[in-house]
Amino acid sequence: MKFMTLAASVALAALSLTSARPMLAARQATCPANVLSCSSASSGIDGCCLPTMGTLLLVQQWYTTLGPSNQFTMHGLWPDTCSGGQGPSNGCDSSRVYTDVQTRLENYSGTGASIMDDMNTYWGSYTGDNNSFWSHEWSKHGTCVSTLAPTCHSDWVQDQDVYTFFSTALGLRKQYDLYAALANAGITPGSNPNVSDMHAAIQTAFGVDAEINCASGALSEIWLTFNIQNGNQYVLGNALSQGSCSGSISYPEKSGSPVTVPSSTTGPISHSTTQPSTPTSTSGSGSGSGLPSGRQTGSCSTNGATVCVSSGSSNQYSKCNSGSWNLNQCKKGLVCYSDTQTSTHCA
Ligand SMILES: *[C@@H]1O[C@H](CO)[C@@H](O)[C@H](O)[C@H]1NC(C)=O
Ligand SMILES: *[C@@H]1O[C@H](CO)[C@@H](O)[C@H](O)[C@H]1NC(C)=O
Ligand SMILES: *[C@@H]1O[C@H](CO)[C@@H](O)[C@H](O)[C@H]1NC(C)=O
Repeated sequence: MKFMTLAASVALAALSLTSARPMLAARQATCPANVLSCSSASSGIDGCCLPTMGTLLLVQQWYTTLGPSNQFTMHGLWPDTCSGGQGPSNGCDSSRVYTDVQTRLENYSGTGASIMDDMNTYWGSYTGDNNSFWSHEWSKHGTCVSTLAPTCHSDWVQDQDVYTFFSTALGLRKQYDLYAALANAGITPGSNPNVSDMHAAIQTAFGVDAEINCASGALSEIWLTFNIQNGNQYVLGNALSQGSCSGSISYPEKSGSPVTVPSSTTGPISHSTTQPSTPTSTSGSGSGSGLPSGRQTGSCSTNGATVCVSSGSSNQYSKCNSGSWNLNQCKKGLVCYSDTQTSTHCA
């Protein structure tokens, strides 16, 4: 650039900076409102408006050594074609293939809140190397979500694409609480549900069906299919397939402790919920807070309800499972605390 005048090189720099922006603004301005990806109206629409692949699968897993005992954890958010075809195994943008997603999420300086606690709680790897798992999911799948591409966002900051990918998936996981959907239909871990009843439970909770997959006759993953509109609105749709489970399957208990999950949901689709019944104390003195305490026995009506044997001083709690109370205990070193009439936590 030595041969250029200063004015010429400034002009060139200004041109290269601005040439990207008006194009982006134009691309964003032309996003049609309320057109759903994979609908007949979606063909030819810009990849910044609708994902070029078509759909996004929210893949949640049931892995007994990972996460809270009353929550599914994340495997991934996978772009698929409208007919279920997968993206390239090495991702879609080699310039954004990363091996340090953990650091990128920790360093992210945009306006979003830190998601590291939720990442480590709800997106753990069974190998223990969470960073490798996240980096793989980002590189193979995240780089294929065309709506997240940096060039689509005029106000993009470093790693906004990575952050948005993971925070979106975590938000959908929370919104579409599969554990609650099943528990509201009386299907809880430690039982052998008929997978037809699981499909029905998800249909009741979310209004659509999911793909339910098994490994060696045990529940392994549940896939929810989303189509996108207006760039970033995820609209739950029906699964393309029922999945690999059939008949009665094993829904094993997890080794972790339960977490208290707020019962309100903010999703666009209303969920059916079961009114919790108040458990009756059969023994024990309680914590003085008016919450139930004491070991519960016999039958119960709210599957998944938990009651501490002695809040704040014992690690034992009763849990309503398939219509009867069972005795459980918090992990070693933790004590049960009552939260509401029907829920507790270990700390
Ligand atoms: C994270 O931040 C540190 C400290 O500012 C910096 O040295 C490092 O390069 C950053 N890493 C990534 C992947 O952004
Ligand atoms: C990785 O995830 C697992 C499972 O959720 C979690 O127990 C562990 O603490 C996480 N690792 C780190 C370093 O936080
Ligand atoms: C599961 O439920 C379906 C539909 O109600 C029924 O046809 C099937 O026999 C059941 N399978 C088992 C293993 O209970």
